[in-house]
Amino acid sequence: PQVCWLSPEQTAGKQKPYMYTQGQAVLNRSFFPCFDTPSVKFTYSATVKVPEGFTAVMSATSWEKQKDNTFVFKMSQPIPSYLIALVVGDIVSADVGPRSRVWAEPCLIEAARKEYDGVIEEFLVVGEKLFGPYVWGRYDILFMPPSFPFGGMENPCLTFVTPCLLAGDRSLVDVIIHEISHSWFGNLVTNATWGEFWLNEGFTMYAQRRISTEVYGLPYTCLEAATGRALLRQHMDATGEDHPLNKLRVVIEPGLWGVNPDDTYNETPYEKGYCFVSYLAHLVGNQSKFDAFLQAYVNRFKFQSITADDTLEFFLEYFPELKEKGVDSIPGFEFDRWLNTPGWPPYLPDLSPGQQLMRPAEELAELWAADSLNMEAIEAVDIMGWRTYQLVYFLDQVLQKSPLPEGNVKRLSKMYPKISKAQNAELRLRWCQIVLKNNLEAEYSKVKDFLHSQGKQKYTLPLYRAMWGGSEATRALAMETFSATAPQLHVNVQNYVKKILGLAGAE
Ligand code: BES
Ligand code: ZN
Repeated sequence: PQVCWLSPEQTAGKQKPYMYTQGQAVLNRSFFPCFDTPSVKFTYSATVKVPEGFTAVMSATSWEKQKDNTFVFKMSQPIPSYLIALVVGDIVSADVGPRSRVWAEPCLIEAARKEYDGVIEEFLVVGEKLFGPYVWGRYDILFMPPSFPFGGMENPCLTFVTPCLLAGDRSLVDVIIHEISHSWFGNLVTNATWGEFWLNEGFTMYAQRRISTEVYGLPYTCLEAATGRALLRQHMDATGEDHPLNKLRVVIEPGLWGVNPDDTYNETPYEKGYCFVSYLAHLVGNQSKFDAFLQAYVNRFKFQSITADDTLEFFLEYFPELKEKGVDSIPGFEFDRWLNTPGWPPYLPDLSPGQQLMRPAEELAELWAADSLNMEAIEAVDIMGWRTYQLVYFLDQVLQKSPLPEGNVKRLSKMYPKISKAQNAELRLRWCQIVLKNNLEAEYSKVKDFLHSQGKQKYTLPLYRAMWGGSEATRALAMETFSATAPQLHVNVQNYVKKILGLAGAE
C-alpha cells in the first residue's frame, strides 16, 4: 500500500500514470523484504522492467538501460532500508552540473533546469570542504508530482523534491542544501533508531546552515534560521512545551500495534536538534575547530548507524579539555537534559546578524497590527526588493499578532499583491494561515486552491488544523476540500488529515 500509484490526472503532464516509493521512516517493508530499521545497512541491486515510454530511476550509484525497457541499478555503498527508492514515469533529464542533473516530467524539465542550472555544484563543493568527501558519485534531483508529501527526501544519488520548489527565482534552494547535507548526516552517519531522528535532522539543519553561511552569508542564514525557530515556537505552543515529543530522544514504545515513527514527526528534532548542535559548537567556541570536529565525526562513523551516546562520547573524546571541565553536566544545560527533557531549548544560537533583514519586517508587522493604521509609515516601507524569506518572516510576525484589528488584513491584501497573489508555496502557506486566522472569507478560495495544487504534509496539516479550529465556515471548507483532494494525498497525509477532522476510520 505504501507504493504510490498515480493516475495520469495526478501528474503534471496528465498523460501517463506514475509510480513512486517513499521509504522513510518504515514504509519500505511493504515494498520489498528487508530489515526495515535504520540500524542495518546493506548494498543492493535491482532489475526493473517498465512498459514502453516509461523510465525507471532509483537511489543507486550506477544504472544502465538494457533491451526491453529493462533498467539495472546498483548501490555500491551500504545504506539503510529507508533510503531505497524507485520512480517509474514519463520522465526526462537535463544536466545542471558536472555530477548533477535534474529529472522531471517533460512539461517541467525546462523550468527545473533553469531553477538549478549551475548552482548545485557549489553546494557540493562547500559541503565537501566542510564535511569531507562526497561519497555517492552523482547528486541528481527528481521533481515529483504535486502530491509528494515532503519538501525533499534525501534518497542517495537522487534527491526527490516537491515541484513547489520551482519558484522561478531559486528562493527555495535551502531545501536542496538541506538534502545535500544529508549526504553526510543521515546517509553516511545514520541514526540507529527512529527515537533519535534528531541525529539525522538536527545535524543536517546545522550542516545546511553552515553551507548557507558560506554561500549566502550570515545575515541571510540567520534570517532563514529565525523562520525555523518560529516554526518550533508554533509547534511547542500548539502541543504544550511538556509534550513527550518535545524532547530530542523520543521514547517509541511498542504499544498494542507498535508506534509508527512517522507519527512522531514534528519540528523538535529539526530545530531543537539544531540548537543542541549549535550549543556544542558554542562550547567549543571556535567555528573552524567545530567544523573539523564534524568532519572527524563523519569520518569516524561513516557507513555506520549510531546513537546520541556515541555522538556525545566522541565529542568529549575529541575535546578532552571540555570533558575535563565537565561540560556534559553544567546545571541547566546537561546533555542528559537536552536529550530527555521536553521543552524549549536551553540554549539558542545568536541570530542577531540577521537583524538587518529581520528588523524592518518586525517593524512593518507592528505597523499593520495597530488599531488605526499609520498608512504614511506603511507606505514608506518598500517591500518590492525583499527576499522571499524576509517576506516569510514578516508574515510569520503578522500571523503571530493575528487576528489583526478589523479590516487590516483586507487592506494588507490589497496593498501587497506580491504576497496575497504569490505563487511561491512558502508565501502561499503563510498567506492562507493569515486568511484563516483573520476569517477573511473573501479569500477562502485561496486556501482551497493551494490545497488542490499540492499535497506536502507540512503545508497541508497546518491548514487543516487552522480550518478545523476556526468557524463553522472554515470547518465546512475543510470537509469540502478534503473530500475533493483526499484521493491525491499520500496515504500517511490522508490519515493525519482524517485524524484532525475527527473522521471515523482514522488510525
Ligand atoms: N528526511 C526528511 C523527510 C522525511 C522525514 C521523510 C521523516 C519521512 C519521514 C527530509 O530531509 C526533510 O527533512 N525535508 C524537509 C526539508 C526542510 C527541513 C528544508 C521537508 O520536506 O520539509
Ligand atoms: Zn532532513
